[in-house]
Amino acid sequence: MERTFLMVKPDGVQRGLVGRIIGRFEDKGFGLIAGKLVQVTEAQAKRHYAEHEGKPFFDELVGFITSGPVFAMVWEGDDIITLSRMVIGKTKVTEALPGTIRGDFAAHTPFNLIHGSDGVESAEREIANFFAPQELVPYTRSVSSWI
Ligand code: TYD
Ligand code: MG
Repeated sequence: MERTFLMVKPDGVQRGLVGRIIGRFEDKGFGLIAGKLVQVTEAQAKRHYAEHEGKPFFDELVGFITSGPVFAMVWEGDDIITLSRMVIGKTKVTEALPGTIRGDFAAHTPFNLIHGSDGVESAEREIANFFAPQELVPYTRSVSSWI
């Protein structure tokens, strides 16, 4: 069982897509174990996107992610890091296929609606940047043996 950090970005919150985005992951069979609305601070945004520091789009990205509330979540499931990024779709909206969240709802990069961790280590770091350990509520779902 793997954990990942998923975050509906300010564009998704403003557009009222939080419920439908959560639904995509529920449909897939993953388990939601933490979620909250957060106004991201500049320091928190820079920590979150530390791997991109120095890149030409970094300042715009930090500005975007702090421009309004986000919906931060922790999900768990087998291979969830790889599988959730498939549900999310490619980074650039011109490459995101229909059927993915970005392919169905996003029309401009960087307004691509949702963040998903890209590895076990980044997931751990990103979860810790947004959640205290006691905010995570893992539980056994009765459907688990059918997914
Ligand atoms: P990245 O981690 O590469 O993509 P993903 O969100 O799919 O993991 O980049 C982080 C965000 O930065 C991305 O969602 C949108 C923005 N971005 C740009 O605006 N321009 C770019 O060329 C890239 C690579 C990313
Ligand atoms: Mg990334």
